[in-house]
Amino acid sequence: MFPPDFAWGAATAAYQIEGGWQADGKGPSIWDTFCREKGRVFEDQNGDLACNSYELWEKDLACIQQLGLTHYRLSLSWARLLPDGTSQNVNQRGVQYYNKVIDDLLASDVSPMVTLYHFDLPQALQDQGGWKSPDIAALFDNYAKFCFQTFGDRVKLWITINEPYVCAKLGHEDGIHAPGLKDKGIAPYVVGHNMLRAHAMAWHSYSSTYRAKQKGAVSLAINSDWFEPLDPGCNEDIAAAQRAIAFTLGWFAWPVFVTGDYPEVMKSAIDAQSDKLGYNGTSRLPRFSSDDPTILGTADFFALNYYTSRKVTPRGSCEHTLSMKSDQDTEEVLDPSWPICGVSWLAVVPYGLRKLLKYIKDTLGNPAVYITENGFSQVGPLQMKDVQRCEFYKSTISEVAKAVQEDGVNVRGYFAWSLMDNFEWADGFSVRFGLFHVDFSDAALDRTIYQSGQEYAKMISKNKSGQSKM
Ligand code: GAL
Repeated sequence: MFPPDFAWGAATAAYQIEGGWQADGKGPSIWDTFCREKGRVFEDQNGDLACNSYELWEKDLACIQQLGLTHYRLSLSWARLLPDGTSQNVNQRGVQYYNKVIDDLLASDVSPMVTLYHFDLPQALQDQGGWKSPDIAALFDNYAKFCFQTFGDRVKLWITINEPYVCAKLGHEDGIHAPGLKDKGIAPYVVGHNMLRAHAMAWHSYSSTYRAKQKGAVSLAINSDWFEPLDPGCNEDIAAAQRAIAFTLGWFAWPVFVTGDYPEVMKSAIDAQSDKLGYNGTSRLPRFSSDDPTILGTADFFALNYYTSRKVTPRGSCEHTLSMKSDQDTEEVLDPSWPICGVSWLAVVPYGLRKLLKYIKDTLGNPAVYITENGFSQVGPLQMKDVQRCEFYKSTISEVAKAVQEDGVNVRGYFAWSLMDNFEWADGFSVRFGLFHVDFSDAALDRTIYQSGQEYAKMISKNKSGQSKM
């Protein structure tokens, strides 16, 4: 049993589903550029067409209705709305597209949760330094104000930035996401810092100008695995697990929910490693100054993207290079009893979500939590009867129920990733996360419900009818 107004949702992101990459005046984003560079994405695929939601939105709406969702999480393409990234040049046809999506959702009694930034920076802003430039925060704030102003009469749940960790690390350290930089041990911390500044500015703008009238809530989506010590009796492993969570969840959650600053563990680990490597100059982890917006308190709820768990031990061998990995000094291993679903990184550990929720409650001041992403992938031969994914959703949602009922975590909603199969970043279309199958081999791009979609719909409907009896 979940609270009566619990949000039952599914999530998508603009670049992964929309297509229409040049339609009606849209500007290019860093993913349009990245996918054109050979060897970046599986089989050099791209999101030029993807699920073509730009033209086939009604098909998505039919899927949303078939599942009986109460909420739908989508992202706006910054470059579709503001082709050069600035509000001096507004693409009205982009505005019309999102107006229709939002209006259709509301007419179907589905509440939109809208993400402003899900990995797709306008290329024009990347050309000016992108997230590495401190100027990006004010540009993001302008874009956010434009969106609050244009859509905020109808949108009440906002996510400013999706997974700053992933943008910083995969995009600027590992180089496997756009913009494909490998500026190890330096750029990711700068990017994370600017993302926090950008998020906080947007939150403050909402509070000062829009909140009283629009009465919505704003947060950022923080991704984290659940980390536990490889040997729970070993102090080094316990400390390593604490470092892993500080460098992932804590990096963004501590400044926003706890202290206004980065976790001590993270600061000291980075500075100690700099000393060891004879890196002199200011700390690689930037510090907030009085010129920055106040970061503490800039979230009206906690938005959690959870996929998997890891057992942690220290790395042991000291690497003499600048990198996040050596700063963090952890080795992450999978418990052999955890099944792997599709992609190699995704070990299925539903209990990890419950533990993480409890951790959030205990360390971050018991915030309201939305699980804004959680899902299971399929790779290889297509299975419409995706029995394992059905089991995954059942056991995960039952762990969420335990977190609510037994641990008293204030979970307000659950969003499955994803509504439908889509462009899975560097894995292209080879990895399928959908509750609906999309036939990418056919121009019609038909959406067909998987068995897991049917099961999820049943769970939603059972929960809704249970509530009406309460
Ligand atoms: C998240 C991301 C989503 C989706 C998911 C599955 O990191 O926000 O866009 O790709 O992972 O890998």
